[in-house]
Amino acid sequence: MYLWSISPKNPPKQLTGHLSGHSYLWPMRIDILTVLPELLESPFQHSIMKRAQDKGLLEVVTHPLRKWAVNDYGQIDDYQYGGGAGMVMMCEPLAKAIEELSAERKYDEIIYLTPDGEQLNQKIANSLSLKGNLLMICGHYKGIDERIRQHFVTKEISIGDYVLSGGELAAAVLVDTIGRLLPGVLNDETSALFDSFQDNLLAPPVYTRPEDFRGWKVPDILMSGDHKKIDEWRLEQSIERTKQRRPDLEI
Ligand code: 6GU
Repeated sequence: MYLWSISPKNPPKQLTGHLSGHSYLWPMRIDILTVLPELLESPFQHSIMKRAQDKGLLEVVTHPLRKWAVNDYGQIDDYQYGGGAGMVMMCEPLAKAIEELSAERKYDEIIYLTPDGEQLNQKIANSLSLKGNLLMICGHYKGIDERIRQHFVTKEISIGDYVLSGGELAAAVLVDTIGRLLPGVLNDETSALFDSFQDNLLAPPVYTRPEDFRGWKVPDILMSGDHKKIDEWRLEQSIERTKQRRPDLEI
């Protein structure tokens, strides 16, 4: 078991909170079943995900699936029935792992990361950020035996219409997008509210010093100090950007 969350001195066992009428259970716990735990070590050890764990708001634990292998060779996959190239992840290691982990805590969702799952978007991330315990399963090869999907998995998520070598990078994306939504994770509590996609709108353009870089100027309105006008301008820009770049988003 790889545990890289750093507990605060007085870890909040179960704090409850409220935001937009939703109750939260803190900290959120995410367990990840994977054949490549090494691949998931770095993504959560920096920046915002590190801060979330240091603050005790998020706990991410990876479990190497080979711990539940069917033999001493560490076998977890086998040839597919019906023939064809590519291995399939076997029922037994996955079922044993899921059952052992489920005996320790009740999972709100058991998520299988797979290219044929529901495509991840901000709405799904928002709703998963309200959960307490999540179990994520990373697939490899041709995927996992269908019976595990039928009998254990409660949600199947893809991160887009392209193929990855395994579910680990997708799990990292999913954990990141959920983790940054947990109350207290971002410095400025409101900043996630203004992210692209939170209102199905893309974010407006942003500028910082200098005011004039090689003759390329910052829009006058942002230098005006008129915050009402600035807010209006930003909203206009967001709407314009969304119409141009993502006409498929409903605004
Ligand atoms: Cl979740 N897994 C894999 N292997 N490929 C993907 C994916 C997931 N989402 C998009 N492509």
